[in-house]
Amino acid sequence: MLNIVLFGPPGAGKGTQSAKLIKKYGLVHLSTGDIFRANIKGGTPLGNLAKSYIDKGQLVPDEVTIKMLEAECARNPKAKGFIFDGFPRTRAQAKALDQFLKTRATAITIMLALEVAEEELRKRLVLRGKDSGRPDDQDPKVIQKRIDVYNAETMPVKDYYSAQGKYKGVKGIGTIEAIFKALCVVIDKGAPNSTAKKSASKKVVPVAKKKKATAPKRTAAKKTKKVAAKRAISKTTAVKKAKPVKKTTAKPVAKKKSTAKATKTKTAVKKATSKKIKSVGRKGR
Ligand code: AP5
Ligand code: MG
Repeated sequence: MLNIVLFGPPGAGKGTQSAKLIKKYGLVHLSTGDIFRANIKGGTPLGNLAKSYIDKGQLVPDEVTIKMLEAECARNPKAKGFIFDGFPRTRAQAKALDQFLKTRATAITIMLALEVAEEELRKRLVLRGKDSGRPDDQDPKVIQKRIDVYNAETMPVKDYYSAQGKYKGVKGIGTIEAIFKALCVVIDKGAPNSTAKKSASKKVVPVAKKKKATAPKRTAAKKTKKVAAKRAISKTTAVKKAKPVKKTTAKPVAKKKSTAKATKTKTAVKKATSKKIKSVGRKGR
């Protein structure tokens, strides 16, 4: 089975690209946003609940969304594979999806992430809001809230799939056709987890390096001894060299000071005695 998570912020082009990908690869498109909107239109209890979150740009609670998604998957038992558009949006949803797919003896093949700058997203959604009829496209504050929620709550899902070696970012700016081609190239190459396997096999290399390093143990020991001896010698010479420097710099300064003091006191004594002698001489006169 080919199971693709089509990831990206609001307005990245998930729906646009999903429509093309399902045709080419014969997959079933599961867009949680579309399912919620269908329920809102039908006035179902699920729709009413979802509407209270969607209109504010917030995520519908995990338990509700996960149950709904699993039910939709189960409705397509003969599917060749799925494109999950707008799901998972939290780590909890990602874990639940993994567990669910495991029960069906399958797994996520790849996460394709459409990378689009925020300014472009805002432009696209405001433009679509003019005729989409989607309440969450009408208010720039709600659009911003959706982007903020994506950054805070949904971005960690990228790390979840990166850790599995399944994340692949694709530039989501350009013509719809060019982006579609780029996505197809990635899909046709296969999941990046195959590169994860390659890098895992590369990890064997250090073991071979270890062997080389551990083989000449004696020489290594001798070398360390020699190095230690050399270091010891260089330390002592360093100390020896250091001592005279200290002495020569420290003592002359001290001597200078003391000699200066001594000469000062000597001249003072001389002056005093000569004064005394003079005064004595005067007195004597
Ligand atoms: P959802 O319906 O998934 O909306 P979204 O993630 O906000 O994304 P959009 O559907 O608006 O954009 P898109 O990436 O599909 O881009 P599109 O192809 O339409 O979710 C809606 C709400 O439902 C959420 O906010 C949340 O409340 C709730 N919800 C859904 N899933 C949930 C979940 N798992 N957990 C909890 N809550 C959930 O393109 C956008 C516009 O750009 C279009 O006008 C298009 O024509 C145009 N466009 C596309 N590609 C290009 C291009 N290359 N160049 C120029 N314009 C382009
Ligand atoms: Mg969409």
